[in-house]
Amino acid sequence: MANPAYPMARQCPMSPPPAYASFREQGPVKVDLPDGGWAWLLTGYADVRQAMNDPRFSSDDTKMARARTQLPPNENLNSFWRMDEPEHGRLRHMMMTEFTAHRIKEWRPRIQALVEQLLDRLETLPRPVDLYAEFALALPTQVIAQLLGVPQQDYRMFAEQSRTILSLDRPEESWAAYYAMNDYLNRLIEDKEREPAEDLISRLIVDRVHTGELPRDELLPMVRFILVSGYETTTSQIALSALTLMTNPDVKATLIKEPERITAFVEESLRFWSVSQDNVLRVVDADMEFSGQTMTKGELVVLAVPGANHDERAFPNPERFDLDRGENRHVAFGFGTHLCAGASLARREVEIAIPALLARFPGLQLVGTVEDLQFRQKSLVYGLESLPVTW
Ligand code: HEM
Repeated sequence: MANPAYPMARQCPMSPPPAYASFREQGPVKVDLPDGGWAWLLTGYADVRQAMNDPRFSSDDTKMARARTQLPPNENLNSFWRMDEPEHGRLRHMMMTEFTAHRIKEWRPRIQALVEQLLDRLETLPRPVDLYAEFALALPTQVIAQLLGVPQQDYRMFAEQSRTILSLDRPEESWAAYYAMNDYLNRLIEDKEREPAEDLISRLIVDRVHTGELPRDELLPMVRFILVSGYETTTSQIALSALTLMTNPDVKATLIKEPERITAFVEESLRFWSVSQDNVLRVVDADMEFSGQTMTKGELVVLAVPGANHDERAFPNPERFDLDRGENRHVAFGFGTHLCAGASLARREVEIAIPALLARFPGLQLVGTVEDLQFRQKSLVYGLESLPVTW
């Protein structure tokens, strides 16, 4: 009998695919993939969290019998994200010195300034305004571009390329965008090799490549991965957080009355939306029994973040957006060794963007209904196509 087909669409845009609830009862289940292969799908919170930080589940792409990716094979696609120890830790450390909570704190005034500029511009636009393009996309794109040292005139181009790379339904276009981004980044790196500036790429060149710590051919995959992972997820998170405000008057009222609840709001929004929907993969690295199933070395495993974050055993009433969850131990940023390296940055961006938006446009409202919105299902990162609003 055929296994259920994966990926599965969300039926309600605000909840994971409904089948996940019955899968959770069964533990890991086998699902069929579009390329004819199959994988284990883990949807329970305990299973997903365990597998995220268990060395028997490898992140090393080269150990997979076949790749489940829309991109060209064998090209060190995703830098240390798709590696195991010790290479993973060595490369991750070089990036993390730039992304410590302390470093990111220094970014706060720059993020605030960017947010205010974008809001100033929004005020001048004819309504309805597409909050997705003009705010949710614009902010993380500019933050990550400034961080890396990408010239301003190129922001939009790389945003479009990243989005095409992450889409799951147009492989030829994804490949073309991927090669175009490589060419672009190669040129950018060469410019910075000639003339280092005050940015992350230049610092990696001067402090790591020139010292022999980072092979030059590891630099491009690392920069490319930071670029692609750094903005699409955060963009979705900002857009969907804004949607939450517009569809939950109680949540909005609480945030206006008690602005200090923003941290709880951000954490709940991360859990609720779980935008990393199809991109957390592992490969079984040792024959083993896991959660009632026999797994064999080389088998592919998909860790369903939305499934885990909507497991009622970990989050009572998971479909409710609840500011009073207390300790919110969601896995929206992963868990363990591969915990999202940009989590502090992403949190700061959402935490600054949402209150500023609310303060500037207290009457912010959706134009049309949630049913009219187009949600991006066929993408590694869940999100919206656009978000028409007025105030
Ligand atoms: C709301 C925004 C974001 C979400 C939901 C998110 C989600 C995730 C998740 C689930 C993982 C773990 C993947 C795994 O275990 O295989 C991850 C890893 C990673 N993320 Fe994010 N991310 C976000 C923003 C960012 C940003 C802003 C950056 C960079 C500027 C970034 C860079 C990375 C990197 C480099 C890794 C790989 C870490 C490693 O393998 O050690 N992410 N992210």
